[in-house]
Amino acid sequence: MLHSSILTPSLLAGNHAHLAASAQAAAQAGAPWLHLDIMDGHFVPNLTFGAEVLAALRRAGLKTFFDTHLMLAEPQKYIEAFAKAGANLISIHIEPAYDHRATLARIRTLGCQCGIVLNPGTPASAIEPLIGLVDLVLVMTVQPGFGGQPFRSDMLAKLKEIDGWRQSRKLNFRLEVDGGIDLVTAAQCRAAGADTFVAGTSFFKAADQAAFARTIAGF
Ligand code: DX5
Ligand code: ZN
Repeated sequence: MLHSSILTPSLLAGNHAHLAASAQAAAQAGAPWLHLDIMDGHFVPNLTFGAEVLAALRRAGLKTFFDTHLMLAEPQKYIEAFAKAGANLISIHIEPAYDHRATLARIRTLGCQCGIVLNPGTPASAIEPLIGLVDLVLVMTVQPGFGGQPFRSDMLAKLKEIDGWRQSRKLNFRLEVDGGIDLVTAAQCRAAGADTFVAGTSFFKAADQAAFARTIAGF
């Protein structure tokens, strides 16, 4: 089945001194989800926010769907904290060594949707055994760690491969892209099977965020 398009602005590109204001502005512009990039300085060479920031955004009145992308060497240690803080979907990377299946199951048990993520250098085959267990597959279209990097068009073939499995096995997970996504690269990813679009720099720098959200929703 073909999912409708969802825009999920990355708060990494928002104003970190006023994250709630950036989040409210994105929601008011019509973004159905918000993407939170959680980095630990180990799995990726950068630091961002912890679960308390998400809890504070909920306390500030944010009712949006939080799409939480954990770029952590040991994500299994933080699932509970992010679920309690108010995450709706928690995505974990395939690359570090931990029990991926048990961690995905734990995310579900805690009442959240679960996603599996793969870096540009990781082949689609690495996640193939898990695709029947997830609500979302996130294909990184940059090496994670920093916003504002150029889109890697060599990831389009990976999207097509995973979308092919989704169709032939009649699975229903969402297929998300993250990194260098703007209105041009999002359209290319849509044509390759993606339905869920993380946009940091392009969304927060857009002169008209509502028009940006409407364009993605129309894909
Ligand atoms: C990359 C993060 C992305 C990032 C995207 O490490 O996972 O979500 O914020 O930023 P842009 O859209 O600026 O490439
Ligand atoms: Zn991300």
